[in-house]
Amino acid sequence: MKTAILVTGAMGQIGSELVPALRECYGADNVVASDIRMPAKERQTAGPFEHLDCTKMQQIRDIVRHHRIGTIYHLAALLSATAEEKPQAAWHLNMGGLYRMLEVARQQGCALFFPSSIGAFGPTTPHDNTPQDTIQRPTTMYGVTKVSAELLCDYYARRFGVDARGLRLPGLISHVAPPGGGTTDYAVEIFYQAIRYRHYTCFLKPDTRLDMMYMPDAIRAMIGVMEADPEVLVHRNSFNVTAMSFTPEELAAEIRKHIPDFVIDYEVDPIRQAIADSWPRSMDDGAAREEWGWSPGYDLASMTEDMLNKLGYRLRQTE
Ligand code: SER
Repeated sequence: MKTAILVTGAMGQIGSELVPALRECYGADNVVASDIRMPAKERQTAGPFEHLDCTKMQQIRDIVRHHRIGTIYHLAALLSATAEEKPQAAWHLNMGGLYRMLEVARQQGCALFFPSSIGAFGPTTPHDNTPQDTIQRPTTMYGVTKVSAELLCDYYARRFGVDARGLRLPGLISHVAPPGGGTTDYAVEIFYQAIRYRHYTCFLKPDTRLDMMYMPDAIRAMIGVMEADPEVLVHRNSFNVTAMSFTPEELAAEIRKHIPDFVIDYEVDPIRQAIADSWPRSMDDGAAREEWGWSPGYDLASMTEDMLNKLGYRLRQTE
C-alpha cells in the first residue's frame, strides 16, 4: 500500500506547520516536503525534501513515483492580493499546478487535498452565515481560481474516482511562517507589530469583519477531512470551515487586554479593502461539523493569548 504523503508549497504559511504535524502523525520518512524555494539547512534534516515546480508534470510524476506517494496536500498557490496584481501568473500557478497534480493523482492513484478559501465567494454571496451551497461568483482572479479548482476537484472525483477533498479556509493566523500577499494578512502582521512596537497601521477599515482561524485548528481540519470516511461525505470540494469572525478593531481591543498601550491606526489599501468587502463576514460550517465532526478549539480570546505568548517567545529568541 502507498502511504507516503507529498506536501507542495511546504515552505509557506500552512506548509511550515502542516509538514511537522503530518510527520508527527505518520512518521518523518513518510512525509515529503516540496517547494520551489529551498529550505534553510536546519529544516532539510527534518525529513525528505524535493525541489518542485508544480507546473512541471514530469517533476510531479517523478517525485510521486519515487516516494510511492499516496496522498498529496497541494498548497502551492498565490494569495489574493498578489493574484490581483499578477492575474496571469496566478492562473498559471493556481490552476496549472492543480490540473497537473490532479492528472498525476489520477494516473498514480493518489488522494488529493486542496485548500479552497473564503475567496471562492463574491459580492453576490450572502455575507452572513454564508451557506455551504450558495452563489459563487467571485470578482477576483484568486476567487476565480478557487471556484474553478473546487469544480475541477469534484470533476476528477466523479469522473475518474480521484479522492479529492478540500476546505474553504478563512484567514489563517500563525506565528511560525508569515503569510504573503493575502488580504487577511493584517491579522498576523498586527501581532508582530504589537509585540515589537505596540503600534500597527492596518490596511483594512476598522469594521471589516472576516472569518478567521488559528493555525493549530486549520492543521487539525486539513488532516481531519482527509481521514474522514469517504462513505459519509456528501460534499467534497470544498467544506466551509471557520473558528471565529472579527474586525480589526475587535482584534486590537483583544490585544489591548494584554498590551494596554497598543495603538492601531488605519491607512486603507483600496485593492485589499475591495477584496475583503466581497468576502463573507461569517460562514456556516454546519456541513463540516455534521459530515466529519469538525469543531474548532480556539476562539478570539484563546488565539490572541496563545499568539502573544508563542510569537513573543519566538521573537525574543531571534531578535
Ligand atoms: N488568506 C487568504 C488571502 O487573504 C484568503 O484565503 O488571500
